[in-house]
Amino acid sequence: MSKPKPIPLDKILFSQGFGTRRHCANLIMSELVKIEGQVVDDPDMLISIENLQLEVEGEIWPFHEKAYIAFHKPMNYECSHKTKHHPSVYNLFPSQLIERGIQCVGRLDQDTTGLLLLSDDGQFIHQMTTPKKNIGKVYVIQTAEKILAKQMEHLLNGVVLDDDPKPCFATKCEQTADNVLEMTIVEGRYHQVKRMLAAVGNHVSGLHRQAIGHYVMPSNLMEGQWTWLNQNDRDHLYGRGTKDEK
Ligand code: URA
Repeated sequence: MSKPKPIPLDKILFSQGFGTRRHCANLIMSELVKIEGQVVDDPDMLISIENLQLEVEGEIWPFHEKAYIAFHKPMNYECSHKTKHHPSVYNLFPSQLIERGIQCVGRLDQDTTGLLLLSDDGQFIHQMTTPKKNIGKVYVIQTAEKILAKQMEHLLNGVVLDDDPKPCFATKCEQTADNVLEMTIVEGRYHQVKRMLAAVGNHVSGLHRQAIGHYVMPSNLMEGQWTWLNQNDRDHLYGRGTKDEK
């Protein structure tokens, strides 16, 4: 693969969400930007983006052409810019990521915790959300009532929800305790897991997403924390590679 072309520094900063091109040029001319520990004060300086680590106003910022983010969503946050009853998950990200337009890849309910992806790459968002790609989302479900074998059978055979005659299926169902079910689904319909459990006569009392494809949320990613996803992580999202490699 050919090397990416060097890019003017103010354009790089702009692409990373540090504000308008003029603001970025001002940051550079005010000697607030360093590369490899050295101040660069020329906005037009051509910089290689390969393994680039910027330092802007004392903060290290690794260059990412596109933003791919894994986030551990806490309880009581809404996945929306215009929230109704709770603060927005977008409040939990640095302004640079908001400026470059990251969006949630699908949504989790306000009371659901766990793995949420965000990105500014529209194609990636589409690929991750279309059922055509067959990407499983793994939920750990706490139920109000003891889970019965016939309920799991029903979930695997498909249940019809009230807004669509087409049944939706669990592609995998494993009971890990009397009231705990690990279930994988491919689609992402509105309140899908809660409605599926209600349809088989149970009730979700706690919901946590722990994996998408073969990408399992890192155990050291605490609630409210986020991390960049590298190419290997993204391959796992698509179900390429094996879980054991992680
Ligand atoms: N299904 C639900 O019911 N809620 C979620 O947050 C995600 C899947």
